[in-house]
Amino acid sequence: MYFLVTAGPTREHIDSVRFLSNPSSGAMGYAVAEAAAQRGHEVCLVSGPTHLSPPKNVEFIAVTSAQEMLEAVLRAHEKCDCLVMVAAVCDYTPAQPVRGKIKKKPGGMNLELRRTTDILAAVADAGGGKVHVGFALEVEDALENAREKLKSKKLDFIVLNGPASFQSDETTATIIGADGSTQHFERTAKKTLAAAIVVSVR
Ligand code: CTP
Repeated sequence: MYFLVTAGPTREHIDSVRFLSNPSSGAMGYAVAEAAAQRGHEVCLVSGPTHLSPPKNVEFIAVTSAQEMLEAVLRAHEKCDCLVMVAAVCDYTPAQPVRGKIKKKPGGMNLELRRTTDILAAVADAGGGKVHVGFALEVEDALENAREKLKSKKLDFIVLNGPASFQSDETTATIIGADGSTQHFERTAKKTLAAAIVVSVR
């Protein structure tokens, strides 16, 4: 199978030297890419900025912003059998990024943001037998919100986790299937969860 995996955060530039982002390390996405490659699958990893080295035997595409990640996923989606969106994609980006450096002025400052494109939603109807796996980072009403995302993004599986997973080698997560099945992992190595995700995809 051909796995298309996204990982890491995106960066949304305010000006040339400042950006909005999140603390995603990329570890979970890189573990999924590695687990798929180790099982003999063809893998393309689209990654936002991280400190990690790409796993062996994986095609690697480095991106920075949500828009760049969208374009890379759209290019590779047609030939993939499975898309696993692990990336922590920024939902908002500065409406008018500035080339150069914004100089400070007296008083406060308002920053206008606009929504980025939801990548999973953008490919939802181009499924055609492809398996789509999403992640859900939830803080409140976790199961309910994850099931809602599973439905609205037309996913085959969603992996529910919490913010404690950021910057950690371990995660507590639940794989929820569109068929209602659930598999829970309590403080489990990301590599173990990654293997379980790859095995779930058939
Ligand atoms: N995602 C995406 N495109 C975006 C934002 C998120 O494809 N612009 C994907 C993520 O990679 C993840 C899933 O959607 O697989 C859910 O991401 P999450 O941040 O939990 O939820 P959002 O859909 O952004 O909703 P909210 O932030 O309101 O909870």
